[in-house]
Amino acid sequence: SPPMRILGIETSCDETAASVVLRDENGRGSILGDVVLSQLEEHSAYGGVVPEIAARAHVEALDTLIEEALLRAGVTLDDIDAIAATSGPGLIGGLIVGLMTGKAIARATGKPLYAVNHLEGHALTARLTDGLSFPYLMLLVSGGHTQLILVKGVGDYERWGTTIDDALGEAFDKTAKLLGLPYPGGPAVERAALNGNAERFNFPRPLVGDARLDFSFSGLKTAVRQAAQSLEPVTDQDIADICASFQRAISRTLKDRIGRGLKRFKTDHASVEKPALVVAGGVAANQVLRATLQDLCNKNGFDFIAPPLQLCTDNAAMIAWAGAERFAAGLPADGLDVAPRSRWP
Ligand code: KG4
Ligand code: ZN
Repeated sequence: SPPMRILGIETSCDETAASVVLRDENGRGSILGDVVLSQLEEHSAYGGVVPEIAARAHVEALDTLIEEALLRAGVTLDDIDAIAATSGPGLIGGLIVGLMTGKAIARATGKPLYAVNHLEGHALTARLTDGLSFPYLMLLVSGGHTQLILVKGVGDYERWGTTIDDALGEAFDKTAKLLGLPYPGGPAVERAALNGNAERFNFPRPLVGDARLDFSFSGLKTAVRQAAQSLEPVTDQDIADICASFQRAISRTLKDRIGRGLKRFKTDHASVEKPALVVAGGVAANQVLRATLQDLCNKNGFDFIAPPLQLCTDNAAMIAWAGAERFAAGLPADGLDVAPRSRWP
């Protein structure tokens, strides 16, 4: 298909983002302009994302961000071939802001609109960054999702595993909160763990050995709470040891769960010469998690692909790219009556 430029819009959680992505005639992608505004400061006082505050912040920032993305890309709306906006899953207020903005631009310019599933954006990112071919496995670990997905093609996904309770990022955030560490919890737990003894607490490793590929993290959080309560008053060293032991339990759990997934992939897709595991989501920043997955992939003959962190966390380049992939695959654009969906598996 001919080269195309797509404007992407992302507003499903607490990042407002706009991006212009080029897909060339050979199917290679490049990011021409990309801006992300994090609302971290707006929410940190509340220890989590407040939906109403998020929606208002998206309204205030989005128009300027789109102008900025176009400016950085050196293009105007005339040069854009299509608009892609996240339409779910996520916080409904933010989704309405982004999708309505996308519709307004599509309406005013007469260009096609793609309403993109946020998870599809994460799933296809490795094709934008690494030109990966189908099929491959993707582990999405963020504040809202923990999913192991078989990516077979554009619009063709199989969910192999999901969390039956907390998302992995949520487990980090809740653990941090009950240890009195700042929000967001993931980076704080990782930092504290650097000085800790990972052997001190033998925290549970939920579902290890289970034949399904699902995850569970709420029991781990409960064990952390009990450990902290049994130590009152908790010292900095206790906190460091708890964090290190917590990460070790997660590392062991992932080794088992993802290890099973890799073996299943090899059985089901024996003809794939160089199988790959892609990681995405904010928790992908964690060095212990990365080392665990890298090691697991080495042992199983998989390529481990971790896109640059700014493309692992929420961004609009992945949404623009998902639109480009749908366009190139000949999938139809969406009508301007398409509705946002807070839940969209
Ligand atoms: O993908 P993301 O930026 O936002 C969504 O959830 O959509 O992920 C945020 C999550 C938070 O739960 C945060 O605590 C976690 O990613 N996180 C980390 C680290 N950095 C961010 N978790 C563990 N270790 C980290 N270094
Ligand atoms: Zn996300």
